[in-house]
Order: sequence, then C-alpha cells, then structure tokens
Amino acid sequence: MADSIAPWQSPFLVSNPAISIWKNRKTSSQPIRRCPLPETPALTSQASGIVIKAVLIPKNKEARLIMTAERHPGCFITLEGPEGAGKTTQLKLLSKCLDELGHEHVITRDPGGTALGKPIRRILLNSETPVHPVTELLLYEADRAQNVSEIILPNLKAGRIVFCDRYTDSTLAYQGFGRNIDFKLIDMLNEIASQGLRPDLTILFDIESSEGLSRLHPSGHDRLEREALEFHQKVRQGYLKLAAKEPERWRIIDAAGPMSKVQGDLRKIVLEKIASMNVKA
Ligand code: TMP
Repeated sequence: MADSIAPWQSPFLVSNPAISIWKNRKTSSQPIRRCPLPETPALTSQASGIVIKAVLIPKNKEARLIMTAERHPGCFITLEGPEGAGKTTQLKLLSKCLDELGHEHVITRDPGGTALGKPIRRILLNSETPVHPVTELLLYEADRAQNVSEIILPNLKAGRIVFCDRYTDSTLAYQGFGRNIDFKLIDMLNEIASQGLRPDLTILFDIESSEGLSRLHPSGHDRLEREALEFHQKVRQGYLKLAAKEPERWRIIDAAGPMSKVQGDLRKIVLEKIASMNVKA
C-alpha cells in the first residue's frame, strides 16, 4: 500500500472521482465495489470498526481512489448527548463496574482527551473569548485528530475497549445542526481527523433540552452551555435524526429517568456489545 493517505484530496484533484474497494489488492484484479465519491459517507459508515486508508492514484488524466480496510481487534464505543444528559457521570459508574468484571478499558473524551487537547478544550469552552464558527469547527477537529492518533487507535489496535465521551457525531449535532455549517464539510473534516475510524456503538443519552439545561450548575455555564435554548433544541433534534439514520450503530437511553435506571440500561447495552464483539478484554 502506498504511504500517503489522502481521501479528502480527491474532490480537488479530479473531476469525477470514484472509490474502488478491494478485498485484497494483491490477489484480486477487480474491486468488490466501485462507487462515486458522493456516496462515500454511506459506504464508509457501513465499515464500522474498520480503519480506512485510501490513496489517490493518478492514471492518465483520470484518478482512482483505492481503499483498503483493516479491522482492529478492539471495541470502540462513543457516548453522545445534549447538555445536562449526565453521560460523563454515567460513564464513571460504568467504568467501576467494568473494572470489577475485569474488562480492561480506556476512557477518553472529545475535546480534551490528550495533553495537547486540554488547552484546546479550555479555549473552546471559555465563555469570555469570542470564537468564529469555523475556528470552533477546526479546533474540535484538531483536538480529535490528536486524540484518535495518540489514544484511540493505538488502544483499539491493542485489542482494548475504548470509550470516547463525545466524538464525530457531536460535531454533526453542534456545528452542523446547531450552527448550520455545511454537513459535507463536516463529514470531510471528521473523516480526516478520525482517520476514517467509526464507532462500533454510539449511545445517545437523550433528554429534553430545557430539562438538561436546568440540571447544570447556574453559575458555571461554559460558552456552549450559554447558547440559546433554540440552539440546544436543534442539537437534540439533530442527534435524534443521526440516530434514526443509522439505527444499527446507535442505542438511545432515556437520560431523564432515575440515575440507577440509566446506569442499568447503559450496562446492559455495553455488556451485550462487548460479548457480541468477542474482544479479548
Ligand atoms: P462536554 O461538556 O460533554 O465535555 O463537551 C464539551 C462541549 O463541546 C459540549 O457543549 C459539546 C461541545 N462540542 C461541540 O460543539 N462539538 C464537538 O465536536 C464536540 C466534541 C463537543
């Protein structure tokens, strides 16, 4: 396989690019599937749990994009939800339970999961500093690129269970549905920052926006939490649309219920997933 990984370059380099998927590039002469680039988000979303590498090969005046897929032996679970849904607290409780059961796992978060990401998180959430929507998008993606390469991918390749508190779907919900930034642009940046890595399972902690916001501490609202109720309602509806589009990846928990019930639902979903994926942990 060639050493450059550049799926995002193709729209700028060729007029009518397509992706060829090869089961085994060395032994088969024909790709198992070939489709134009506009179809690729659907195509890559089917490749859950797969690390995707692509390279653009200029041939005469045309170009071919060859993708090879490599399955990692871990299990990648992301947690999503609007403000005040309680996912971070629930993840801590789940982590204790997994420790007791002997399931080796790693927890990280977007933004702020790495040393480089921590100051990015502070900048993003600081309510004193104005942040342009495009700057905001790029900072979330920069944080993610570091988290994926430094924490998420190495642990998945080592066969571990990795939980990420927010991931690419947060960007679609907040910057896409919330801020109205073009979804194609977000998809492309998500693809670059995540190296094409998709979660095996995404759990949505769903809560009505005003109820979620009322759970936050009144004095400590960060920049995003200070947005108008209408913004948070768009984010929540966005999450529900994302979940409806890919029901095989998403599970929805009613986060407005009692904490013990939410924890019970979360454990059931996660333990079933771990069992079905047969990870070594
Ligand atoms: P947290 O409070 O769950 O740690 O998330 C930080 C805030 O950043 C939260 O308001 C959601 C927001 N966010 C985005 O707007 N876009 C993103 O891509 C991510 C990961 C988070």
